Amino acid sequence: MKVAVSYLKSDNKKKCIEKIDASIADFIHVDLCDGKYVEAKNFTIGEITKLLKNAHKPLDVHLMVKEPLKYIDDLALLNINTVTIHLDGCKEPKETIDYIKSIGLKVGIAVNPDEEIDILKSYLPLIDEVLIMSVVPGKGGQKFMPEVLQKFAELNILKNDFHFFTAVDGGINEETINYLKDLQVDMVVSGSYITDSEDYNENIKKLKAV
Ligand code: DX5
Ligand code: ZN
Repeated sequence: MKVAVSYLKSDNKKKCIEKIDASIADFIHVDLCDGKYVEAKNFTIGEITKLLKNAHKPLDVHLMVKEPLKYIDDLALLNINTVTIHLDGCKEPKETIDYIKSIGLKVGIAVNPDEEIDILKSYLPLIDEVLIMSVVPGKGGQKFMPEVLQKFAELNILKNDFHFFTAVDGGINEETINYLKDLQVDMVVSGSYITDSEDYNENIKKLKAV
């Protein structure tokens, strides 16, 4: 199991990013909230570039924003692996996906707890990742919603025909990770469970072991 660590809920973001960067995490998960798609606003492009330009680990960017295209060119200066978007945040989802791919980045689509897998079916030939949200997007430290995992029955059948990897984001800790056993999940995103702990690696190890 790969692990991306989110610094969303940390008070000292710079220090937290340095600790994630020095840990055994696979990716730094960058949660960007614009105050429009979700209530919280937690970045300007200038701040985010400054904060992440020296990170060594690849970035897993989660855009909880309206009109993600506005941010892509600036973000592309960073060391990004995947950019994940919410379809209901885009006026032109196909154009957005095509553009992100055209500059050499992988694309993910996030599926909110109240959304069905149907919404992304027509995009599956184009994308690299499906991110199943196990909390309502917008803040860290929320309770895991096990009912969203039903979506893996359909997703795993679709994996036979399309090439994408799957991830789960929100409320992941050493207990809730056990819900993912046998679901063929490729990656989890974990925030507060890791960043509220003293020893990041100890907790990351517990998630990776599943
Ligand atoms: C929720 C974010 C998640 C969140 C994870 O809006 O997309 O990535 O930061 O944090 P925890 O693990 O604390 O739920
Ligand atoms: Zn996220």
